Formats: sequence, structure tokens, C-alpha cells
Amino acid sequence: MTNNITLTMIKPDAVSKGYIGKILGEITEAGFAIAAMKLTQLTKADAERFYAEHKGKGFFDELVEFMTSGPIVAAVLKKENAVEDFRRLIGSTNPENAAEGTIRKKYAESMSKNAVHGSDSDASADREAHFHFADREIFA
Ligand code: CMP
Repeated sequence: MTNNITLTMIKPDAVSKGYIGKILGEITEAGFAIAAMKLTQLTKADAERFYAEHKGKGFFDELVEFMTSGPIVAAVLKKENAVEDFRRLIGSTNPENAAEGTIRKKYAESMSKNAVHGSDSDASADREAHFHFADREIFA
């Protein structure tokens, strides 16, 4: 297990508003290298599997419905201390609480439509990177 990758998704709200380029610009300017990337759309089964840890929570059905509602950009990002540094760059899950200058403060509209995902641990980053990409597609 390394501490130098994280998995992000630019979520359907941000993709549909045309924010892919701006968000990728913020990410690379902050020092993250793109180790894998694609435009894709999750099926219901994909989203239920990706978010399995949230099954049973009140927001689960809404989360699955939203995350399958349109295309997303999935990317593996490489940087020393990637998980923690990326979570700082994107800001709090709820954009109302996100610090000024963070990606969610700038581009997110609500707790569920919060523009971007970031892995919450090195173990999650590894699982989530391999959820979206084969080993040979990850240039980490
Ligand atoms: P993320 O951390 O990317 O992955 C889980 C998502 O569930 C989270 O972003 C939010 O968009 C969404 N969500 C919706 N409601 C809640 C809630 N009450 N608590 C945590 N996450 C929530």
C-alpha cells in the first residue's frame, strides 16, 4: 500500500455544467499528476458496489441515483500524501462548510451534488483506483 495515489471522480453535476477543464486545471496546478483518466457513466450496480459502505444510510438511494444520472470523469491522481492533500484541495463534503478557494466551494451546489469525490484513505484509494482502472491503465 502506498500513500501516493488518490481516486477522484468529477461528478455528473460538474460535468454537465462544463467544469471538467477548470477542475482538472485546479488539480494539476496543485501538483497532482494524472496517472489514469476516463469519461464514463456508472450503472446502478456499479454505484451500489462503489458506495457499498454507505448502504443502509438515508442518503444511499439518492446518491446512487445521482451518480448514475450522467457521465463522470474518473481519474487516479499521483502526488506525495495524495489522499490528505487532495481532500484539503476539494474541501468539506458539504460545500456550505468548505473553505474559501477549495474546489467544492467554487463548483459544488449541495451536499449530494458536490462536484468531486476524493478517496478517504490509502486503502480506499487503492480499491477505488482498481474499481475504475486495470493495472496497465494506471501510470503511478
Ligand atoms: P463523497 O464523499 O464523494 O461520497 C459519498 C457521498 O454521499 C458524499 O460525497 C456526498 O455527496 C453524499 N452524501 C449525501 N448526503 C450525505 C450525508 N448526509 N453525509 C455524507 N455524505 C452524503
